[in-house]
Amino acid sequence: MMQVSAALNAAAKLGIFTLLSRHPEGATLQQVSEEVGLCREPHFRGGADLLDLLVSVACLERAGEGSETRYRNAPVADQYLVRGRPQYAGGILCLNGDRSFPMFGYLTHALRHGEMPPEAFQRVPDIHTTFGSDVAAAEFFAEGMTGASLGNFSLLVDRFPFHRFTSLGDLGGSVGCLACCVASRHPHMAAVTYDLPAVHGAAERYVQKQGCEGKVQVRDYDFFSPDPVPGGHDVLTYGMVLHDWGIDKKMLLMRKVRTRVPFHGSKIKSKSIETS
Ligand SMILES: C[S@@+](CC[C@H](N)C(=O)[O-])C[C@H]1O[C@@H](n2cnc3c(N)ncnc32)[C@H](O)[C@@H]1O
Repeated sequence: MMQVSAALNAAAKLGIFTLLSRHPEGATLQQVSEEVGLCREPHFRGGADLLDLLVSVACLERAGEGSETRYRNAPVADQYLVRGRPQYAGGILCLNGDRSFPMFGYLTHALRHGEMPPEAFQRVPDIHTTFGSDVAAAEFFAEGMTGASLGNFSLLVDRFPFHRFTSLGDLGGSVGCLACCVASRHPHMAAVTYDLPAVHGAAERYVQKQGCEGKVQVRDYDFFSPDPVPGGHDVLTYGMVLHDWGIDKKMLLMRKVRTRVPFHGSKIKSKSIETS
């Protein structure tokens, strides 16, 4: 299982599915190797093994034999793993490869000692440093978040009774994936996505790409600042936010929203929905 995940993460990072989307008739190993920059030494078999592994888990399809073998995306990869497509989820695979997998190496230490060893953070920056750090790191992380959350948000906008509400404020909304899902599915809703300045530019681009300009606003807001949560929303959301923090900060975040939604408003936590 671990090997399959590592191969998928690597293929997403190398852009193999995106490349193959430009070759609907299929591409040979040689073409893939040239275009994504795999080793092409005559006796190197890693590239062929990678592509065949992806065939075995139904992400790629293969036709032909020997050097004429052609690989193309299976439908699931074409839908979810081609960068730039509306349902692209590959960002979370790239993030897993760069961030989560290196961290797994310290799991035993963390379980024994209750914390990561200092050298772990030389390989992978602490998550709280990543938030709000340089724009490139924040945008890479944000693309991972969209990949992880798009499917859940698509379900949420079908299942939550947004028809009873008028305005969403998504706190820690990253590039605005939830706000765009809500505004697209429920055009009567005003939607604002709030996050730190490092993701502001990526959020503006994402909102535009989703066709939500004018329907979704992007605002900077640090939810740990003394400023109150912006008012005017009858639905406030924290998506995959509370789990990042210890109990004191979780309580602070929940208290901040409690006073800011009207009595009939709604607070959605990561894995549950409460209406009052
Ligand atoms: C785990 S991500 C979740 C993103 C998104 N809500 C989702 O569910 O896909 C946590 C988000 O919280 C944001 N964040 C972290 N600290 C913040 C702060 N002090 N104020 C506002 N946003 C913050 C991060 O930039 C990141 O976008």
